[in-house]
Amino acid sequence: MAGRIPESFIDDVLARTDIVELINSRVALKKSGKNYAACCPFHQEKTPSFTVSPSKQFYYCFGCGASGNAVGFLLDYEKQNFVNAVQSLAQSAGLEMPSEDLPAQQNFSPLYEILETAQRYYAHALKHSRHKAKAVNYLKKRGLSGEIAKQFGLGYSPPGWDNLIGALQSKNKNLATALSAGLVIEKSANHYYDRFRERIMFPIRDSRGRIIAFGGRVLGDEKPKYLNSPETPIFRKNEELYGLYESKQLSSKLDRFLIVEGYMDVIALAQNNIHYAVATLGTATSKNHLEKLFRLAPEIIFCFDGDDAGLKAANRAMEICLPCMKDGRQIKFLFLPEGEDPDSMVRKEGKELFEHRIEHGQTLPDYFFSYLSEKVNVNTIDGKARLTTLATPYINMLPTGVIHQLMMTQLAELAGLELETLKRLLDQQQPSKPSHRSPQAKRFAANPGYDEAFSYTDHPSSPSPDFDDYEAHAFTNHPEQATGLSFKTDPARTLTEKTIRLLLLSPAQASDISTPDEMANLDLPCINTLKELIEFLRANNGASTATVLGHWHGTRQGKWLAEIAAKEFLLPNEHAQQEFQDALVQLRKFCINYAIEQQIEVDRINQSKDSSKLKSLLKQKQAFINNN
Ligand code: UTP
Ligand code: MN
Repeated sequence: MAGRIPESFIDDVLARTDIVELINSRVALKKSGKNYAACCPFHQEKTPSFTVSPSKQFYYCFGCGASGNAVGFLLDYEKQNFVNAVQSLAQSAGLEMPSEDLPAQQNFSPLYEILETAQRYYAHALKHSRHKAKAVNYLKKRGLSGEIAKQFGLGYSPPGWDNLIGALQSKNKNLATALSAGLVIEKSANHYYDRFRERIMFPIRDSRGRIIAFGGRVLGDEKPKYLNSPETPIFRKNEELYGLYESKQLSSKLDRFLIVEGYMDVIALAQNNIHYAVATLGTATSKNHLEKLFRLAPEIIFCFDGDDAGLKAANRAMEICLPCMKDGRQIKFLFLPEGEDPDSMVRKEGKELFEHRIEHGQTLPDYFFSYLSEKVNVNTIDGKARLTTLATPYINMLPTGVIHQLMMTQLAELAGLELETLKRLLDQQQPSKPSHRSPQAKRFAANPGYDEAFSYTDHPSSPSPDFDDYEAHAFTNHPEQATGLSFKTDPARTLTEKTIRLLLLSPAQASDISTPDEMANLDLPCINTLKELIEFLRANNGASTATVLGHWHGTRQGKWLAEIAAKEFLLPNEHAQQEFQDALVQLRKFCINYAIEQQIEVDRINQSKDSSKLKSLLKQKQAFINNN
């Protein structure tokens, strides 16, 4: 739809709209520095993290990541569709919508009708086609009764290129409509063929029960295993859930939903009297999906395969779930044994055992902390720091409430911090989530200058510039930390940071060390800073962190050192000396390996084998190994 309104017209509309005025008429804004602030209308909060920039004509929430321009705001806040949003802004701005671009009043009933006709045809074919035996046997083999097949409206598309087309034509249906509904494919102008051939057909209904699409499964091992209708004006994959309508029909009372991966999982569970399963349609679970389900029941259980893909999916799901965790809602994660899916599992062990698994699923907070504790060693200072740094953006995604409170308490315990200290840190680190934007926000993040849209120091709840810089740095330079629980970061930088942090805890340690040989010839900015720092501390015996920061004040290095030093506030100082020694050894090991790799590369380019430089590096490595 968006494509029909010329881009230039939208630009024109945006240029004549003041986003501050637009939002302020709906959400009272307060001036805050250069920007405006309010409690976010897209998530629950008590202190304002929703910010509107008059110069960039943008809004951004530091709490939930909602963002966008004026059009985006109307889409998300008033749930207007794109055309209407542009139209209402155009009207206020006194601009005429280019009339030929206005879509005609949309009437989707022909689409629903033709899909209904197709469904009747497929169901009929499952009973009467001369090829039906294969299909019926397949469903039997998968343990499905005729009754369940009927409840889910299962059907069959027989082999051939125009079976459905014939059936539609005999009912005087328009094939152009069939094309818009995704049932047929156009091979040349006005010539069509059936999209689904020789497949078991699964009608996909919207939550009101109208058929909006189909999925089709092959009977054997052909590829693709499942073929789905394309997106159409009435079928949006990331809004629909397979089985939702059926579960509403089949259960007397819904108090929970189980989210599974496949059509067959939903049906096999229903066959085993578990009527509350729904499946996403080959896409990841979205916030839309969750909100839809939470409107109907307070508990959602995600069911994942017990393999790596399942774990990845769980981590993705966690990010989507956290902002939805209002009080009264519960989310659980259930991991199946490797090689099983809900279909195979429930057929093997039946309803009761399967439900027993559900009861014993991990709650979202449990999953969250067990995952984090596995990734960091919470018995070390560094581990505690990382735990807090990693957990913060996620905890900040939670709406305020009991769950938020409970997770804070648990985090404080794990990190060995007083709850009050942790709260202060989290408050200070609020602007740490530039990358958590809602999908809508991403879609309408029209301005490429977006990330500079707000300077962190303008932010209403950022009293400490040190922490702002610290966070800005941590998350802009290591974006992967902000987007997922992944620890890939530049190893030289990470190791150096750790070493410097531990060194700054008690700078006197430097008097016992000189610049390690392994670092001497290495030219990396972070290592250079460490070398300079060691030299400085040796020359200025007794220098404190404050002296160090004074020395480098106003430089980029100084900024970096201050960020690192700020982490000191997070942590007790107990084992700092031993950890510093360990960190230094690790860093030296990295340096020697790095130097060797570099030398090999240099030798390769110069086509010199076993250069003396390489030999001496290898000797140095051997000596290092022997001594450590
Ligand atoms: P799976 O490959 O896990 O299949 O796909 P399944 O549900 O266990 O299927 P069976 O048991 O072999 O019949 C899970 C879901 O991913 C989508 C479908 O929505 C499917 O239900 N999918 C899978 C596709 O869209 N296309 C494919 O080719 C495969
Ligand atoms: Mn399966």
